[in-house]
Amino acid sequence: MHTRNLALLVMITLVTGIALPVGAEKPDGHRQTQERGRHIYERACLWCHGTEGRGDGPAGWTIGRYTAPRPRDFVSEGFKFRSTPSGELPSDHDLFRTVTRGIPGVMPPFGSLTEQERWEVIAYIKSFNPAFKEAPPIPLNVPIPSIPASETSITQGRAIYLQFGCQGCHGENGTGDGPVHRAGELRDEQRLRIAPTDLTNRASFKNGSDPRDIYRTLMTGLDGTPMPSYSANFEGSEDNVWHLVNYLLSLSPEPSQ
Ligand code: HEC
Ligand code: HEC
Repeated sequence: MHTRNLALLVMITLVTGIALPVGAEKPDGHRQTQERGRHIYERACLWCHGTEGRGDGPAGWTIGRYTAPRPRDFVSEGFKFRSTPSGELPSDHDLFRTVTRGIPGVMPPFGSLTEQERWEVIAYIKSFNPAFKEAPPIPLNVPIPSIPASETSITQGRAIYLQFGCQGCHGENGTGDGPVHRAGELRDEQRLRIAPTDLTNRASFKNGSDPRDIYRTLMTGLDGTPMPSYSANFEGSEDNVWHLVNYLLSLSPEPSQ
């Protein structure tokens, strides 16, 4: 199909999305589910992620041929937005969250697909990578935030930020202009230049910006990018994660509704 027609179809799908059916369940990985998922994929995802899921759809090139991020190659690449340890595949719920919320700046949210349809398209994209058939990794249990964002906590979070060297990439004040970045050294796994997130703009966080989302980012890292997992640094000091989260959120104003 012509690219423009495809794009139009996606727009129509996005705009005319039907309300969620009550109690839509995660469907099994059966053939029929995958087949229905393939139809959804072809109208909503293919133009970026490509016919065979290799991240080479026609619209993908316009997002940025020589800059990160390229649309994910589901066949061979890892995943950024996980509740699972670095190097592991994401859980089904991680994929569901990504598809529902979209990715700020690069991928639209698909909350206009019914839950059932989202699970179907997820079953289909998992079929691109046989590793998904193996036993799923155990996701991190993300606790409820336990430290209020007091001034003391924010000060402690700032100290941890500097102690862990976040400023090397994200800059002294979190604006994304650290010396490692300025030296032009940051690249993703496709060797494309990638910029550290501007931490003073929480609306741009791709992995979400509530405290528990940021907890997940810090503990699991964003695979395929220079943003590492800090779970080893936080071992035995859970409070420190929340201090750092409180500091990061203090850098950017509340999003306006
Ligand atoms: C407008 C282009 C576009 C469309 C349409 C699109 N995506 Fe994406 N998608 C992207 C880009 C770009 C990335 C990589 C983002 C990054 O690495 O920061 C991505 C990444 C992903 C990821 C990987 C997230 C991770 O954890 O690394 C999943 C899963 C995904 N897309 C699913 C889908 C599904 C399912 C659809 C259709 C319902 C879809 N996408 C439609 C552009 C698109
Ligand atoms: C070696 C460089 C590097 C270091 C060190 C680093 N980061 Fe990052 N960080 C990145 C890059 C690059 C991205 C953007 C990844 C992307 O856009 O896919 C990022 C993304 C992020 C994000 C946004 C995630 C999202 O949802 O989009 C947060 C929050 C973050 N980093 C916090 C931190 C904190 C806190 C530290 C220190 C504990 C830290 N980073 C250390 C390179 C780094």
